[in-house]
Amino acid sequence: MFELENFDLKLNTNVIGRNFIYAEEIDSTNTYLLDKTNKNLADGTVVFAEKQNKGRGRKDRVWYSVKDQNLNFSILLTNRKYLGKNINLINLASSLAVAQSIENLFQLNTNLKWPNDVLIKGKKVSGILLEATSQGSKVERLVTGIGINVNQTMFQGNFNIPPTSIKLESNENIERERLLAEVLNNFEELLEKISTEPEAILKDWKSRCRMIGEKIEVSDDNVTKYGIFDDIDENGFLLLKSRDNKIEKIHFGDVSVQ
Ligand code: BTN
Repeated sequence: MFELENFDLKLNTNVIGRNFIYAEEIDSTNTYLLDKTNKNLADGTVVFAEKQNKGRGRKDRVWYSVKDQNLNFSILLTNRKYLGKNINLINLASSLAVAQSIENLFQLNTNLKWPNDVLIKGKKVSGILLEATSQGSKVERLVTGIGINVNQTMFQGNFNIPPTSIKLESNENIERERLLAEVLNNFEELLEKISTEPEAILKDWKSRCRMIGEKIEVSDDNVTKYGIFDDIDENGFLLLKSRDNKIEKIHFGDVSVQ
């Protein structure tokens, strides 16, 4: 059982998670926050669910998570301050917040896979789904949905990257309340840094990405592109270098080392 009081004691934020919605079961925490019939939700609202019946991953994949064992939550951002041109940096900041929290609390090394998977020893411990609703060209609600495998030890199904959990990697039962508070504390700090020091976010993110400089393939729907993972640009997009040294900017896709 998730102890709200314990979580609240460890939360140090001003905005993120100050409005906290706890659900035993929900379709998807992302869907809930994107649904315009759920009105008047404060900026920084966090929806947390013990179980999602329609948990969603990137590229229409399903996100499975056993009830009461993991962290499945979404953060709503509506403040115009964050919804400007650097939305993609929020994507990177989300995965960075998860990676930093796992490192700080459990001394486990993490690495990041573009755009936002968090891995431990090459296995996926967390996935992130960033979604938005807009009015015309203006983003109204930005939702970053984060799934972290925490105490689950058995995974069934087909996965594009083999899964793991913090418990499997640390041999410890993990206090979910402490981890969630740590992720939200780090996320709020990084969100501020996007305006003040975006290059620091990129630097920290890149220092955990082992694929830079490697031969990769990037696939999006039916198209697969090959080249060298040259860098991440100032907006967090992947720069793919082709054989003739041309650089192509990649906005979406699944990356794997060739
Ligand atoms: C991925 O790796 O493909 C992204 C997985 C994102 C899962 C999280 S769990 C909380 C939030 N609600 C959802 O339906 N999905 C995200």
